[in-house]
Parts: sequence; structure tokens; C-alpha cells
Amino acid sequence: RQQREALVSRHSQVLETANTWYRQQLRTADAAIAYLKKRGVSGEIAARFGLGWAGGDRQGLSAVLPSYDDPLPVEAGLVILSEDGRRYDRFRERVTFPIRNARGHLIGFGGRIIGKGEPKYLNSPETPIFSKGSELYGLWEARQAIRKEGLVVVVEGYMDVVALAQSGIECAVATLGTATTAVHVQKLLRASDSVVFSFDGDKAGRKAAWRALEACLPLLRDDISIRFLFLPDDHDPDSFVREYGADSFRKALREAMSLSQFLLAELAANHQMEEAEGRARCVHDARPLLQAMPAGALRMQVQRELAQLTRLTPEELGQLIPLQDVPSG
Ligand code: CTP
Ligand code: MN
Ligand code: MN
Ligand code: MN
Ligand code: MN
Repeated sequence: RQQREALVSRHSQVLETANTWYRQQLRTADAAIAYLKKRGVSGEIAARFGLGWAGGDRQGLSAVLPSYDDPLPVEAGLVILSEDGRRYDRFRERVTFPIRNARGHLIGFGGRIIGKGEPKYLNSPETPIFSKGSELYGLWEARQAIRKEGLVVVVEGYMDVVALAQSGIECAVATLGTATTAVHVQKLLRASDSVVFSFDGDKAGRKAAWRALEACLPLLRDDISIRFLFLPDDHDPDSFVREYGADSFRKALREAMSLSQFLLAELAANHQMEEAEGRARCVHDARPLLQAMPAGALRMQVQRELAQLTRLTPEELGQLIPLQDVPSG
């Protein structure tokens, strides 16, 4: 434990040095500033999120890091060691997004290219203190707003978090380009008992929402609220809030679909519910999902609605999907 804290502190120190340098670079990077302006990001919001700029120089950052031969900048993912032993900066020609853990320690970066090029976003690699599947971008910055609003909104992208904050909705966090994991859900439920997932209004976003639902099922409790907001027409929260405004987004949040609604709607949409065979397969496919849920009132409610949907009596469905005998919730 103490060793872990020492490790985090060693890493976050070198990351902070990099962050300070990136932020200094942004001040004079006209193209990056113009890019952020074009996307509606004010200087105030850029400062709130500590946005910076990694320029095109292959060794711009490497040259300013303390003791150049120290392995730490490499371990921390800032510097890449090439096969011929040369070092160069991982992030180049990118707007940098510092990523902090729940205690505010700097653990990694995301970087967006401002012109054309691949990949659009580059993240820190997995390091001893940074694991994409367990961190949420913006959680530290959002902590007060989450408490004030009694709500945490989960989005896909860095710019969704930044644009929502720009519009006054400061309680958003993002998964870092990975599917929502159980660790994410644990962190979210520690931050708030009300969670709304708002992924992109495209096919990938809908799939991401379903994956999030699956990650939530084992952690459901009767005293929490988990909802899904589906945005129209290929919008993401950034484009939506910029086109329709914060009030529209807040209204959409209030009207977001409950987890049970989403679960049942998706099951119904994916089966031939007008045929006995389709309804049977629906029960078959629903079984592992229901069994992933802890026993409790919500599971009973969902089971009752599934019985209606599949035209079984609750008793018949109960025989097919027995409740675990340990009540909780
Ligand atoms: N992502 C990533 N690597 C990529 C593409 C995406 O890690 N090559 C992650 C980033 O965290 C990104 C998120 O997935 O913010 C969502 O991706 P996408 O919807 O494609 O990007 P946007 O955030 O909408 O990007 P932008 O608005 O800046 O174009
Ligand atoms: Mn997308
Ligand atoms: Mn509670
Ligand atoms: Mn976007
Ligand atoms: Mn997007």
C-alpha cells in the first residue's frame, strides 16, 4: 500500500512536470488555440481541465524532463525508447488532456491530433499506475458538481466532458475509449447513486450502452438509479449540447430511459416476439442477464415484466429462471 503510494507519487511527479510544460506550450501554439476556439472551448475551461499542447519536436519534452537517462519518463509513458536507444516524445502535435485518478493524482494523458492523421486520439500506454479499463476521465474535475447535481453522466469522449462543462454541465466523466467495466461502475456508484450513460447516437454508441448495461447488472441495488440517454442522429454529447444547448441536454437527461426499460426494449427488439419460438428464445437469452442481477425488488420487477413480454405466467417464468435463494438488495 505504502509502496503503491510511493509509486503513484513518483509517476505523477514526472507527469506533472510534463503537464506544466504542455500547458506552457499551449500559450503560444496558435494553431492549437484556434482549434480549441473553433470547438467552442474557452480559455477558462481549457484551464479547468489543464489542456495543453505537445508540439511537433521529437524531443521537446524529453529535453526538459529531469535526468534524461532516468527510466521513469519511459515507464510513465511520456517518452518512447526506440530500438537504437534514442528517446522521443510519445505525444506530438496533439492537444493534451491530463487524466487524474479519484484522488487527483495525475496518472496519464490523452492527446488529440488537430489536423488529419491517425490515430485521432492517443492515450498513455498501460503503466504501473494507469489502466484505461479502470479510469474515468474528468472524475476528479467533476467531483463537486456530481455531489451538487446528485448525478454523474458518463460519456464516450474527452471532448464530450469538456463541451458539457463549457455549457455548464460539469458532472460528466468519460470512459477512455474502452468498454465500460465493472471497475468503472464501482467508481461511478461510489461517486453517486444516480448514473446516466450518454454515449454517441450511432451504432457503436448503442453497443457501448449495452456493454455498460451488462457491466452494471451484477452491481444493481434497489436504491440506485441507472439510466441511458440515446442521442439523435449521430450526435455525441459535444455536438448535441453545442447545437441544442444545455437546457435541451438537461431535459434529455431527465427523460433518459431506465436500465430496465432499455433491457426489455432491447430484448423485444432482438426477437420475433409475435412467434412462440421467438418468445422462447427471448427467455433463453434473458436468463443469464436476469441471473446476473442480485436478488431484490428490481430483479423481481424485471422478471414480472419479462413474463408479460414473453406471455408466460410469473410462475412459469420463475421455474425457468429461479431467483437465487439469498435475498439482498
Ligand atoms: N478514442 C481513443 N482512440 C481513438 C479514438 C477514440 O482512445 N483512436 C477514445 C477517446 O477517448 C475519444 C472517445 O474514444 O474521446 C470517443 O471517440 P469518438 O467518438 O470517435 O471521438 P470524439 O470524442 O467524438 O472525438 P472528436 O469530437 O474530438 O472528434
Ligand atoms: Mn463515436
Ligand atoms: Mn443511497
Ligand atoms: Mn465528438
Ligand atoms: Mn464522439
